[in-house]
Order: sequence, then C-alpha cells, then structure tokens
Amino acid sequence: MLENKHVTVFVTGGIAVYKAADLVRKFIKAGAIVRVAMTKSATEFVQPLTFQILSRNEVYTDTFDEKEPENVSHIHLADWTELAVIVPATANIIGKMANGIADDMVSTTLMATTAPRLIVPAMNSNMLANPATQLNLEKLESFGYTVMEPDTGFLAEGYEGKGRLPEPDKIVEKAHLLLLEKASDLPLKGKKVIISAGGTIERIDPVRYITNDSSGKMGHRLAEQARDLGADVILVTASKLEHPFGVTVRPVSSAREMQAAIMSDFDDATIIIMAAAVSDYRPKNQADKKMKKASQDIQILLEENPDILATMGQQKTHQFLIGFAAETNDVEKYATDKLKRKNADMIVANDVSKEHAGFNKDTNEVIIFQPNKEAIHIETDTKENIAKHILLEALYSMKL
Ligand SMILES: Cc1cc2nc3c(=O)[nH]c(=O)nc-3n(C[C@H](O)[C@H](O)[C@H](O)COP(=O)(O)O)c2cc1C
Repeated sequence: MLENKHVTVFVTGGIAVYKAADLVRKFIKAGAIVRVAMTKSATEFVQPLTFQILSRNEVYTDTFDEKEPENVSHIHLADWTELAVIVPATANIIGKMANGIADDMVSTTLMATTAPRLIVPAMNSNMLANPATQLNLEKLESFGYTVMEPDTGFLAEGYEGKGRLPEPDKIVEKAHLLLLEKASDLPLKGKKVIISAGGTIERIDPVRYITNDSSGKMGHRLAEQARDLGADVILVTASKLEHPFGVTVRPVSSAREMQAAIMSDFDDATIIIMAAAVSDYRPKNQADKKMKKASQDIQILLEENPDILATMGQQKTHQFLIGFAAETNDVEKYATDKLKRKNADMIVANDVSKEHAGFNKDTNEVIIFQPNKEAIHIETDTKENIAKHILLEALYSMKL
C-alpha cells in the first residue's frame, strides 16, 4: 500500500523527534518515497541532516527558502504529498492546524495540501489533557483528519502518563490503513473474504494433541494481500503467527471450531480460501485429565472431522471457493480430483515435499487448477507474491 507512495513527514518540536527519524526509515523500508519538513523547534532537537540522509531528500525548514524559481516550494510539496504524517505533533501545531494558522513551512504546507493527514500527537499528559488541546483534536477529526491515540507509559518528564508517541511500526500500520480507507479503486472494496490458516489442533488430553506441520504463513500472507485489495478480511487461524493488522482475526484450535468460525460469515462472503491444514481425524474420546503412562501399548481411536471445504462446496451460492491441496506425490491428479469432489472454484496445489515449497517455508511454488481452464504454474516466489497472484487470478475468474 505504501509502495511508491509520496509520504511527507512533518516533524514538529517535541522530545519524540528522535522516533520520527526511525519512522522515516520504516516508511522507506515499506517502499514509500519520503520527504521531510521540520519546524524551527524540531531542528533544535535533531539536525535536518539526519532526516535528509534517511529520506534521501533535502529537508524543508523555511517557507521563504525558494530554491527552484519555477516552483513555490510549499505549494509544490503540498501537491506532491499523497499522505501527510505529522509526527510528533506538538500541542502547538495541533492548535495551528485546527485554527487555520499558516506561519512556517510545516503549517503552510499542511494548509495547502489535500492529501489525507495522519496526526500523531506526543506531549506531556497535562498538555494533552488541556481542554484547548482536546478541543483542537476534536476539531481536526471533524475536518476528516485522522488522529492517532497517544500511548500511555513512562514520559520524558519522569512519570507515567498519557502522551507518548506510539511505536513507529504502529504509525506505519496506521498510515497503511488510512491509505486503504481512502483508496476508492480497490477491486475487493466492501467485499468480505474469509481465509483459514494454520494446522488445526485435535486434543488427546489437556497436554497432548494431534496436529500437522502447517505454519499458517500462506494463509496469513493471503489475508494481508486480500486486505490490500480492499477486502474486509476474516482470518480464521489456528496458527501461532503474529496476527496481521487491519483484518478481523478469529483464533481457533480444532477443525470443528474452525468450521463454526467460518460458517458464521459464509452467507455474505465473496471469496473463501481454505489455506488451513485441517486434521481429517480427531481422537474419538478426549480425556479431561492428563492420561497416565500405561504398562502396555495403548490405542487412540480416531473419528472423522467435518470436511469444511466439501460442506461449503455443497452449500455455496455466489461464493468463490478456493481450496489448497498439499501433496507429496501425484500433485496434479489429486488436485484435479479434489476440485471436482469438493465442488471448489479453484484448487491451489503445492508439492510439500519440495525444498522451497509448502509447510513453514517463506517461499512456495504452486499450480492453480480451475474448472475448464488450463492449469497455471506459479514458479518459486515469496508467499506474499504467490498470495497476490492467487487473488488476482481469482478476481480475473470472477470478473471483478
Ligand atoms: C525539551 C523540550 C521538550 C518539548 N517537548 C514537547 C512535546 O513533547 N510536545 C509538545 O507538544 N511540545 C513540546 N515542547 C514545546 C514545543 O517545543 C513548543 O511548544 C514549540 O513552540 C513547538 O513548536 P512547533 O510546533 O513549531 O514545533 C518541548 C519543548 C522543550 C524545550
């Protein structure tokens, strides 16, 4: 979402200026093209040179420093900006923005831009609680600007309070979501996509279970890509991986829990992707106390789990149903058979015996099967790119 986006970071004079330097680095890492404007007070804390080096662009500090005769620099920067991030936002700049004051490079450019604005206040807790600051923040929100809630914690003043700058990673996430919210041309905007991920867990007793090698990486990458195509994503996950931001996560454990969590949104889903590795069987009896070691062999009787994909295949009306087939041999034969048996619209097959594909890897290599279509082979790539490819192929087939 931030790839090649023109992000201007407006740095004002708070103690958290040093964190803005890290933020610029993170925006660059996310693929954004960054420019920085600083107030005079901000330059008291950190030299513009730091931001110049991190952003790889000259830093704007003076409205009247007109270097290019063909441009008025604050208007040029305002027009160039696709996302304005004010960080740290002082009580002073918040007051100026709320009241239409434009008396330096930062405030004048902010007045002139039409880009979405993300305001990240950071200040002493009493300054934040001051009714003037609160009223100004309310006013900025009423203008349609986004204000990020300051963190509570240990302040530079040496005591606990609300007013800390959120961590740069969280600011990048917020910026990402703001751009998603403002984008009007995304193919899955307003559409619900359900994705399952991870290997389900079937309990034998309170401390033992049956599972498989699925890490959930493919499902989680699919959730992120569907989010970036504008979808309202529900990720039903049995994985221990960190939850992706900007999606609704439903943590589950067993196949039956997974089925219930998926089916509650089945009716109004546009796409459902079963990337989870669902246990075919579960122990018929689950001990409610830890099983003791016996002096002879024991048997665990397994009973069949519900076939979630097949159930959805029978019940689907408008939903586009995508299943995964993790095979170790005869991949094509099993995948085409699965496509028919489950009444799916697409089966993504991967050979999990391959070095660079399948369970717990960061890369994958897949073949996409669809009814009455040639199979599409996607060569080894990151799971992120494979996820993008799968979704774009589905959109193409759905004519979205
Ligand atoms: C050491 C020091 C730390 C400061 N920290 C903050 C702060 O975290 N937040 C804030 O709103 N103001 C803070 N201020 C006050 C601002 O620097 C002051 O209001 C200034 O006029 C803001 O100017 P600007 O908004 O143009 O950058 C601090 C001042 C000093 C001297």
